[in-house]
Amino acid sequence: MVMKKILALATLAAANYGAVSPAYAQDSIKIGVIAAFSGPFADYGKQMEGGIKAYMAQHGDSVAGKKIEIIIKDTTGPSPEIAKRLAQELVVRDKVDFLAGFGLTPEALAVAPVAEQAKKPMIIMNAATSAITTKSSYIVRFSMTLPQISAPMATWAVKNNIKKVVTLVADYGPGIDAEAAFKTELVKGGGTVVEAIRVPLRNPDFSPYIQRIKNAKPDAVFIFVPAGEQSIAFMKGYRERGLGEAGIKVIATGDLTDDHVLPAMGDATLGVITTFHYSAAHKSPENQAFLKSFAEANPKSGRPNFMAVGAYDGMAAIYEVVRKLNGKIDGDQAMAILKNIKLNSPRGPIAIDPNTRDIIQTVYVRKVEKINGEPYNVEFDKFTDQKDPGK
Ligand code: PHB
Repeated sequence: MVMKKILALATLAAANYGAVSPAYAQDSIKIGVIAAFSGPFADYGKQMEGGIKAYMAQHGDSVAGKKIEIIIKDTTGPSPEIAKRLAQELVVRDKVDFLAGFGLTPEALAVAPVAEQAKKPMIIMNAATSAITTKSSYIVRFSMTLPQISAPMATWAVKNNIKKVVTLVADYGPGIDAEAAFKTELVKGGGTVVEAIRVPLRNPDFSPYIQRIKNAKPDAVFIFVPAGEQSIAFMKGYRERGLGEAGIKVIATGDLTDDHVLPAMGDATLGVITTFHYSAAHKSPENQAFLKSFAEANPKSGRPNFMAVGAYDGMAAIYEVVRKLNGKIDGDQAMAILKNIKLNSPRGPIAIDPNTRDIIQTVYVRKVEKINGEPYNVEFDKFTDQKDPGK
């Protein structure tokens, strides 16, 4: 409450200052990017920054005569207090026009009240718990939601005679959403979840859980773990404990076979089926241009993943707002534009649902296969125009 007051006063002071010296605030458009750039989730910030750089390399660094200025802030991990403090600094001290980034759900939830209070558009580039967009009317999401991705995985599973499933999810917002949406669809199709396992978000040791999965003898295990190190750790356990040999298939959200880490995960991923909104192997001119620009703007960074694409599309939306408002950013006018954005993304066509400010997009079914000796998520089926279910 006290912080809220301080923020309100500081915002007021900033507004007054701007009135005395309008040129000061108007030279550039400032975008504050809040994400983890260090610690176990450092890759999230780096992928987003890479996507932002790729967009700016392709489209220039000024719009409507204004220079686009990116201010990077490191949360160090899923630390809500740090994320909130950084957002307050960005609003009060740096006077940003947009808040952006948010790899992890706890960061997004902590910043939502700051965006609401300061009337700053908050561009979600990854965080994927369904409820996030309900926490402020200034939030718009360019990534995905876990229910949007997980429900089609269950639909595909029952069609392919996978009926008895163990679920394993990270025990926080996106994992709980994934578990619920997957189960609802599976049960509708006549399947059953025989065991629902939740693992801690920080440093999980997968081996005891993998043994439990083996003992339950399901047709498949459905996985959501946050992309990166945890995907590598799960697939290592899967390989070492012989789940594949025991006839237990892996089905998952594409976080498990994240394009950035897939080449480092070894052959245990071959044949893994996932549903997701982006694959580096997606065939389209927009994706070709994105991959080229990402590689040029981020030498030696490896493959871009879905977080880079979320950031790239978020930047496309910001550029559109700046163009349409001719460089004078007002939070409410910006939101009116953001609510109706439609883009040809590297992932395929996307649109923002004006009622929910959440994304509508194609969810692809993919299988890990080698292309020229390198593993990729190869798309072979799709569910078009998917909303976040239940919204
Ligand atoms: C999230 O915290 O919302 C999150 C993190 C990593 C993912 C997906 C969602 O891969």
